[in-house]
Amino acid sequence: MSGSAQITDHRYEGKLKVTGSAQYAAEFKVENLTYAVMATSTIAKGVVTSMDTGRAQRASGVLAVMTPFNTVKLPGGNQGAGKPPAGRTLSLLQDPQVHYNGQPIAVIVAESLEEARYAANLLKPNYKIAEALLDFEAGINSAHPPKAGYWDPDSKRGDVAAENAKADVKFDQTYSTPAQNHNAMEPHATIARWEDNKLSLYDATQYISGVKHSVAAVLGIPEDDVSVECPYTGGGFGSKGSVWSHVVLAAMASRLVKRPVKLVVDRTQMFGPVGGRPRTRQNIQFGATADGKLLAVQHDSWCHASTVEDFLEPSALQTRMLYASEACQTSHRLVAMNVGVQTFQRAPGEATGTFALECALDELAYQLKMDPIELRLKNYAETDLSESKPFSSKNLRQCYEEGAKRFGWAKRSTAVGTIREGHDLIGVGMATATYPGNRSAASAVVRIKPDGSAFVGSGTQDLGTGTYTIMAQTASKALGIELDRIEVKLGNSALPKAPVSGGSMSAASVCPAVEEAAKQAKLKAIALAVEDINSPLHGADQQNIDAAGGKLFLKDSPAKMESYADLLARHGNLTLEAKGDAEPGQDAKTLSVHSFGAVFAEVAVNAYTRMIKVRRVTGVYDIGTLMNQKTGLNQLTGGIVWGISTALYEDQHLDPVSGRVVNNNLAEYHVPVNADIQEIDVSVLNIPDLKFNPLGARGIGEIGITGSAAAVVNAIYHATGIRVRDLPVTPDKLLG
Ligand code: MOS
Repeated sequence: MSGSAQITDHRYEGKLKVTGSAQYAAEFKVENLTYAVMATSTIAKGVVTSMDTGRAQRASGVLAVMTPFNTVKLPGGNQGAGKPPAGRTLSLLQDPQVHYNGQPIAVIVAESLEEARYAANLLKPNYKIAEALLDFEAGINSAHPPKAGYWDPDSKRGDVAAENAKADVKFDQTYSTPAQNHNAMEPHATIARWEDNKLSLYDATQYISGVKHSVAAVLGIPEDDVSVECPYTGGGFGSKGSVWSHVVLAAMASRLVKRPVKLVVDRTQMFGPVGGRPRTRQNIQFGATADGKLLAVQHDSWCHASTVEDFLEPSALQTRMLYASEACQTSHRLVAMNVGVQTFQRAPGEATGTFALECALDELAYQLKMDPIELRLKNYAETDLSESKPFSSKNLRQCYEEGAKRFGWAKRSTAVGTIREGHDLIGVGMATATYPGNRSAASAVVRIKPDGSAFVGSGTQDLGTGTYTIMAQTASKALGIELDRIEVKLGNSALPKAPVSGGSMSAASVCPAVEEAAKQAKLKAIALAVEDINSPLHGADQQNIDAAGGKLFLKDSPAKMESYADLLARHGNLTLEAKGDAEPGQDAKTLSVHSFGAVFAEVAVNAYTRMIKVRRVTGVYDIGTLMNQKTGLNQLTGGIVWGISTALYEDQHLDPVSGRVVNNNLAEYHVPVNADIQEIDVSVLNIPDLKFNPLGARGIGEIGITGSAAAVVNAIYHATGIRVRDLPVTPDKLLG
């Protein structure tokens, strides 16, 4: 790769981050700041009958104690503002009901964080305890379909029973995945400040417009009175797509004490009040011919949901479209439990669903004595049968081929539990990765400034994913202005609106808007030059003018040119501004848009201790155009790391009696550290999907986690001959 190509790959905000000068929500310096701490319930269900707040109120530095008994009533109560992602059912001290252990039941505001924390410990709530729903397995029999939501819980194509009757081979197994918590490096945090009747918020979020809208709606104030700023988000992964209770509580507290309030969710509170991925139980059934043609596929999934809000982890979604079976049927049901409201977590649905589906296919391949890639190719879906639509672009076959080659799949021994290196049992496994290509309407503004540099802005967010960088790249290319002369601003609600940075859609939504705005700004400059008798481009055909290196020039006579700066100087140092709007076109309705990938893993399992090491992973992805080598491949790598984490480590433990998350910390809720992660080889086909958007790029944030847990678990089976269907695969499950 050439030097200049590497420079364009650098993170726009990289230097600010590594030097510590990038300000995250909790780091803004605000005068006269006070500190709020949430006190949380220690029971799973019941009522706070009374709360002794005397000692807390008298404690040093305490300014206010908000409880269910003294807090101002909101127009919509706890109900939040409508629908997810932003609007969730919240805990806003509107009533004394307790729905889960860890629910906010009071807020202390004090002069310092230490004083607020100390006073929170002095609160003495009294409870009337009710019997809580805490047994997921017991709740399966009374599971219910979601009342509302994004995803249709059921699907049916063809006649599963009739196809099963024709099958030579039947398969029926149940898989389960634990509840997971997001645990971004940066905990959720909000600073709220009122000036007159206007509320301004610094908030750690994936969705500034959602915060603006939801907070206004919950407080019952005009949306225009709320402004939100979030220049950097230290990881979100779905958790920061919603406005959780602490954001509104900070605003309420600030209004009460008439001073700015900072509320940082502490690490233990990341396990409850800000969502999590529900646990799942998934049953997969296949009917197939002896040579591996899938006749019937059935995927039934159950997950838990809070008693106050139905949120579905749609684990069977990918099963509807990934393979060309004759018939396919899926269902999702919810088990109501006294836990915090559940939410989106990286590839909600596909992350857990591809674990079950891709392990089941591996099992079927062994049953049929077929190569697992061959089994997948035998059932390759040329179109999306679930929606009877063609794919906008699908090159999964190439992913299998390229991945197998890079990984050395052909060299493996197909026998199970036979490869030994010293004390280690070695195994390899593979799986398919998939995630939809999402896109929403977005807007951006571009300004060409008198000095010939440019500004690009959009009310989007950068979660550490590279949004700044690809906005700069897109504007630079469309304007013909050097990358280092592009200033980017995002994460401010005064900027043109952009969607939630969720569903892997920011790049595909925002960059077309940036491109459009830049194109319009450039056209304004061109029109100005053509009309200007003092311009070397005067009178030229506009179509014949392009820009590069900060200069406008004639395409057929490049020596005729002038810089943006010279042009604008002659026009009173004018700034040219243009807005760009972009939204999915007509094609979006007639096409099925998905990214795909093939992921391969090699594990070493100690024959005696059963400690597992994932020695290497190869992932090859079909994600359309790769916008940026560094940030793009980094997203995919991070997704694979989370797949390994899902396979081996993460496991939220809910105490069956108290309903408390007992491992609500990073010591006992295991996530991988550097030593757990070995070689990861990620590449992309880089085939543009131009039917999806003009840049040809589909999102990249979520697909990495899909398939990777299954590849690891399939490799563990190959190494040991032990099939674990209940995640995480801890060494004890491989003993015996
Ligand atoms: Mo992602 S879980 O849609 O933020």
